[in-house]
Amino acid sequence: MCGIVGYIGDGNAKEIIVRGLEKLEYRGYDSSGIALNCGGSIDVRKCKGRIADLEKLINGEVFDSHVGIGHTRWATHGAPSDVNSHPHCNIKGNIAVVHNGIIENYVELRKWLKDNYNTTFKSETDTEVIAQLIGVYYSGNLMDAVYKAQEKMKGAYAIGVIAAEEPEIMVAVRKNTPLVVGLGKDGNFIASDIPALLKHTRDVYLIENDETVLLTRDNVTIYNSAREEVGREVYRVEWDEAAAEKEGYDHFMLKEIHEQPKGVLETLMRRLDENDNIRLDGISFTKEDLEKINRVYIVACGTAYHASLVGKYAIEKFAKIPVEVDVASEFRYRDPLIDEKTLFIAVSQSGETLDTLEALREAKKKGARILSVVNVVGSSVTRESDDVFYTWAGPEIAVASTKAYTTQLICMYLIGLYMAALKESITEEYYSYIISELKKLPEKLEKLLESEPQIEEIAKKQYKRDSVFFIGRGTDVGISYEGSLKLKEISYINSFAIAAGELKHGTIALMEDDTLVVALATQDKLYEKMLSNIQEIKARGAYVIGMAKESNKRIEEQANDVIYIPDCADEVSTVLAVVPLQILAYYVAKFRGCDIDKPKNLAKSVTVE
Ligand code: F6R
Repeated sequence: MCGIVGYIGDGNAKEIIVRGLEKLEYRGYDSSGIALNCGGSIDVRKCKGRIADLEKLINGEVFDSHVGIGHTRWATHGAPSDVNSHPHCNIKGNIAVVHNGIIENYVELRKWLKDNYNTTFKSETDTEVIAQLIGVYYSGNLMDAVYKAQEKMKGAYAIGVIAAEEPEIMVAVRKNTPLVVGLGKDGNFIASDIPALLKHTRDVYLIENDETVLLTRDNVTIYNSAREEVGREVYRVEWDEAAAEKEGYDHFMLKEIHEQPKGVLETLMRRLDENDNIRLDGISFTKEDLEKINRVYIVACGTAYHASLVGKYAIEKFAKIPVEVDVASEFRYRDPLIDEKTLFIAVSQSGETLDTLEALREAKKKGARILSVVNVVGSSVTRESDDVFYTWAGPEIAVASTKAYTTQLICMYLIGLYMAALKESITEEYYSYIISELKKLPEKLEKLLESEPQIEEIAKKQYKRDSVFFIGRGTDVGISYEGSLKLKEISYINSFAIAAGELKHGTIALMEDDTLVVALATQDKLYEKMLSNIQEIKARGAYVIGMAKESNKRIEEQANDVIYIPDCADEVSTVLAVVPLQILAYYVAKFRGCDIDKPKNLAKSVTVE
């Protein structure tokens, strides 16, 4: 939520910051702004709307500036408006701050500043409190003032700060929200995420919690909370700028849908050795460790939660260990039964989702062992986990998650199979069969993507709908949830997913002439049952888009339209079944003229409760 950027160097600060913000717009896009130090005074330009609106605002303005900060916002405190946009300044206007996160005690601090310093505020934001606080402590040394302000601030924040009187420095702090520093040839950078830096450098410092960074044109120094200098290794980013570009696709979402064969292959190959044994490089999870575990929780939010449902299926089916799955926002408050015999698995693309992170902390505090499945290297979830199982999806920019999800599914299968191999709970033949089915998925995904034009045609017929139902059985239930979420988040159609067997217990009352239902029947084991469910809703007049494996043609007798996925083992069909639903959601949203990569009210990384 929110993206921050900062630059200090020889280049044109305005240009560099605005280009950096464009790369972070996925994090929030209701307003944006920049603050530049121009010859000893701070110039701020900000407005409600997209970064394109900011660009219009500053178009033609020339700033003689080599140090500045920028922000793209997802509103928390105060509605999106020009005045609530960041950066925020103190009353004197000599300090400017950009902030990602939340200052929990901002009401208290506002009062304290009013009572003690007669401070007046322009905006409703918590961020302005930071600028005012640093302002009252500032007497010519920005580092000092930032340290003093931190003593009073409670909450989660990554901030970038500049001072009019000190054009040769920029200060940044990380506390529970992401912050990276880019090390360039002609200057240094701060950013909430790596894509904002890639145009200039692939060498970065991953900043840890409670660290304060002092940046100059030529130097970056990191300090801990006791103000001692700390060393940091340079992290070389493996992917380049092109990986974070659209590469000819109309939208990041479509590009990322098409990257799934590669992401799945990469995630598999990094974990399989030449004998198809699962390698846990960097993870020390032994048979003895597993024997100690008597409870597994998989906890996540949104799409990652849907992947967790498949994790439950995989671990229970292969390793025969009971698993509970929960959404993180519920798990944290329900006083779950956790002790040192608990394995807690956190699943998260960004590794920054606050609810997931807090659930993890709760579990850790009570002694659980923490394994995380994460896409973003070095993110908060990875730092606080005992072990990390990376999804090698590459950068996911579209707000709607696609390739992160399919790679999460692969990790779920691998974790289940690894535990099964340790426990010897499945035969070698069955293990080899599932691995061989997983290894065939990249090729099958390529083939499946060829049905995009057919799915586009279906979307063209259906995009004006007001509501859609998704039904399925077995692992298709989780895929129905995911298909429904994908559709509603980017097309704003009211969609609803339910286990097909549950229909009769209430929801079937909504079936009438022409009700649109997407019915997933990809499980051989449950195929006949699904055909009966389709028959039941057809009898009430529903219009059915069916999905089945390509050998299971009888669905054509029931469904109005059929999408086929390549034949595969029931166990792994999830990875294929979700893809047509992603494509369907994409084209429905496209025909409706929606902003696909940046759906309204959403942001890629949800760092608030
Ligand atoms: C939907 C989507 C969200 C995320 C959720 C968790 O397409 O992307 O539902 O899955 O916000 O985010 P992460 O995985 O970053 O923890």
